Amino acid sequence: MQAVNRRNWLRQTSIAALGLGLSMRSLAGEEYLPKHFGIENNLVNLGSNENPYGISPKAREAIMEMMSQTNRYQFNIGSLSDFKKQLATHYNVTPDQVLVTAGSGEGLNLLARHFSNGRLVTANPTFGILPNTAKKIGTEVYEVPLDNFRAHDLSAMLSAINSNTKLIYVCNPANPSSTIIPAAKMKSFCIEASKKAVVLIDEAYIDFLDAPDNESMIGLIEKNPNVLVIRTFSKIHAMAGLRIGFIVGHPTIIKQLEQNYFGSSQFCCSVLSMTAALASLKDAAHAKASKEKNAVARQYTVDELNGLGYSPAKSYTNFLFFPLKNYSGDFSSDMLKKGVILRSNNYADGKWCRVSIGTQDEMKQFIQVMKTMA
Ligand SMILES: Cc1ncc(COP(=O)(O)O)c(C=O)c1O
Repeated sequence: MQAVNRRNWLRQTSIAALGLGLSMRSLAGEEYLPKHFGIENNLVNLGSNENPYGISPKAREAIMEMMSQTNRYQFNIGSLSDFKKQLATHYNVTPDQVLVTAGSGEGLNLLARHFSNGRLVTANPTFGILPNTAKKIGTEVYEVPLDNFRAHDLSAMLSAINSNTKLIYVCNPANPSSTIIPAAKMKSFCIEASKKAVVLIDEAYIDFLDAPDNESMIGLIEKNPNVLVIRTFSKIHAMAGLRIGFIVGHPTIIKQLEQNYFGSSQFCCSVLSMTAALASLKDAAHAKASKEKNAVARQYTVDELNGLGYSPAKSYTNFLFFPLKNYSGDFSSDMLKKGVILRSNNYADGKWCRVSIGTQDEMKQFIQVMKTMA
């Protein structure tokens, strides 16, 4: 389909969906966003916590160069022969401490399968892929509500670990709630919880944090075979569409994972995504610029939302989480009709919205629409 025709088709499809009055309630979960909504339809897409500033120019250049070798498998490309080593070196670990996956979502999915023979302890709400996969395959999932500040309730999580617990999943910074556990507290939790089961820390948004909060739990893995950290190139590196992420852990557990579901997980990554990842790691200035622009647009949005009477949870990420007071309709559906994609969901204490931080212009458009919502 030619680009222009495709664009028309996409526009018609989404208008048709709206015309039919299809509920967007299904968007409220973390997964399964329809593929055809977004920029092409002149919608402001604030639904998936993507980085609106695009990939590093160095990554773009590296991709263009690698294009001529895309007829080859990754193991036949010299510059990628030590991919894992280069990745590991950047994070101060060794290649036998790393597993590469086609996006961290795939890593979470495979981890849910690997740890299916006992209780999973996690928060509610949290990022959905791991607990949802676990539920689907019949694993017991014990969900601990967030505390009053929308942060993880670590002592309640520790109490939820029983002798049958195999995995504890903590998303820090948290999605959808945008809050953090300070590094020192996170560390003590990992040390305590890992005496009983494997602790998995999802650091998808860690690069948006400032010191000392940005201390990774990767530092714990060398001495502790029960700590795993999962990371993605989708957020600060803006590579969501390229699909690459990785897991870091002690060689003992990495080997076990490799022998089980992760045997060919790296092979699912394209040579383009691997090449872009390495180039992006070398472009700290680009990541820094994304982080700074995000902080400015986030502050603008927080101030405006507060002015409108909404009170977002303190955000450390590229998204905000705020209660929708007494909104009686389907908020995300109603926002979509006004051109903004975001998520809303019902929780025990009412309806909440998660909105990603786009560019300053996008956030201005979002605020304009918010002013029309009663
Ligand atoms: C906390 C968290 N972990 C993991 C992911 C998955 O990211 P990806 O599969 O793009 O690496 C996301 C995506 O939004 C996320 O929010």
